[in-house]
Amino acid sequence: MSTGESDTIAETPVTNRKQPFPRGFLDTISTGWAERTESMPAARPQAAYAAARRAKVSESFPGKRLVIEAGSLKQRSNDTDYPFRAHSAFAHLTGWAADAEPDSVLVFEPTDAGHDVTLYFRERADRTTTEFYADATVGEFWIGPRPSLAGVAADLAVATDHLAAFEAGEDDIALGDADLDRVVSELRLVKDEYEIAEMRLAVDITARGFDDIIHALPEAAKHARGERVVEGVFHRRAREDGNGEGYDTISASGPHACYLHWTRNDGAVVPGDLILVDAGVEADSLYTADITRTLPVNGRFSDVQRKVYETVLDAADAAFAVARPGVKFREVHEAAMKVIATRVAEWGVLPVSAEEALDADTGGQHRRYMVHGTSHHLGIDVHDCAQARREMYYDGVLEAGMVFTIEPGLYFQIDDLTVPEELRGIGVRIEDDILLTEDGAVNLSADIPRTADDVEAWIARVQKG
Ligand code: GLY
Ligand code: MN
Ligand code: MN
Repeated sequence: MSTGESDTIAETPVTNRKQPFPRGFLDTISTGWAERTESMPAARPQAAYAAARRAKVSESFPGKRLVIEAGSLKQRSNDTDYPFRAHSAFAHLTGWAADAEPDSVLVFEPTDAGHDVTLYFRERADRTTTEFYADATVGEFWIGPRPSLAGVAADLAVATDHLAAFEAGEDDIALGDADLDRVVSELRLVKDEYEIAEMRLAVDITARGFDDIIHALPEAAKHARGERVVEGVFHRRAREDGNGEGYDTISASGPHACYLHWTRNDGAVVPGDLILVDAGVEADSLYTADITRTLPVNGRFSDVQRKVYETVLDAADAAFAVARPGVKFREVHEAAMKVIATRVAEWGVLPVSAEEALDADTGGQHRRYMVHGTSHHLGIDVHDCAQARREMYYDGVLEAGMVFTIEPGLYFQIDDLTVPEELRGIGVRIEDDILLTEDGAVNLSADIPRTADDVEAWIARVQKG
C-alpha cells in the first residue's frame, strides 16, 4: 500500500501501523546504490509471432486508434490483491505473458501505411523517488525490480514508452468494443507453431501433475479434506513448472463428481469411490491445458463404475473419430452425444428411445446426465476464442491448427430417482486436448492413460514407484 508521494517528514502520512520516515532515512535512502547495468536481451521467440498477429489486427481497423489494455491488479481484500494476470488479448498481441506489468497499454496509432504500435508501461522508478522505497504496490523495495523501457523494447521487439506518456483519445477503440473483441478472439481460432509448442508444454506439465496426484491418493484418502490434498499437490506442480493453474482445479470425489464445477474441494476421498480431477497447468506463456481424468481411489474400478467409464470413453473416441479438417465443430459434439443417448437408453434410463432423445427440437432427455458441451477451443484462455462468432465457432468448420477439448461425461446425481440406485453418485468425465492437423486429429494428452485398464495400471505403477 502506498504511503504517499511526499518526501518530507511532515507530509509522510502516519497510519495506525506506519511511522513517518525520519530525516536521516530520507537523506540517505537514495544514495549508496551501485550503478544499474543492463544488457539488452535478444527478442524472445514469441515476438515475431506477436508481430504477425498485430499486422492482422492492423489490417482489420484501417485509420482507427486501437487501445489494448493489459488490465490492472484486482483487489482481493483491503490492501491485498489477486496475483496479476494480463488480459489474454494483450498477451497474445505482445508476447508479454506471466511477466507482463499491470496497467500496460498496447496502442495502435493509425498512419497512412497502417499503424505504428507502441507499448506503454510503468517503467521502474528512479531511486530518488518515494515510489522506490515507499510504494508497496509497485515500488522496487517491495516487489522487486521492474523492467526498463529499453529492455522490454528489445525483449518484445516493439516500441515502448512510459505509461505517463499515454493519452486516451475520444475515438479510441478499446477492448470491450464488439468488433475488436471479435477480431482478437477469432485471431486465436487457428494456432501458430509457437502456440502449439506451448500447448504441448502445458499438457506435459499437467501430465506430471496427474502423476503427482496419483502418488498422493493414499495420503488424500487419510485426510478429512482429501480433495484439498489433491488440489494442493497439483498446485505445487503448476507453480513449480508453470505459471499456475489455467483455471480453478476441480477435485471432486464420490458424488461431488456430478457437480460440474466443483471447486470447493473440501470433501473426503473415499476408497471405493471415483475421484474426478479436472486440472490444467498454465505455462509461463499463459497457454493452458485442460485435462480431466476420473480415477478409482483404491486403484480398481468396480463393475458399475467401469460400465459408466467405458461408455464415456466410447463417446470420447467417437468424437475423436470424426474430428478432422472440413468437419463442423458441432459434429464432434453430436458424435459423442449419440453414444451417450444410445447407451443410457439401453440401460433403460430414458423415458424415450435414443432416436427420440436425439431429436434437436423435442428430445434432449439424455442431457440430464451430460448437460455440458463436448468441446471448446483451448489456448491462452481455457475457454478460448470466447467472442468469436457462432458461425466461426459452434457452427464453424474445423481447420488444421485448431486446438480444442473433447470431454464427454456422465453424471448420475446422488438423489436422481430416474436411475438405478447403483448408478447414483457416480460421475465420470474424460477430457483430452486435441490438435487438428491436415492429416487428422492428434490427441496431445494421449500419454495420460485413458482406458480403464490403463488407468488401473497407471495407478499401480505410480504408487509402487
Ligand atoms: N475445466 C473447465 C472445462 O473443462 O471446460
Ligand atoms: Mn474443458
Ligand atoms: Mn476441464
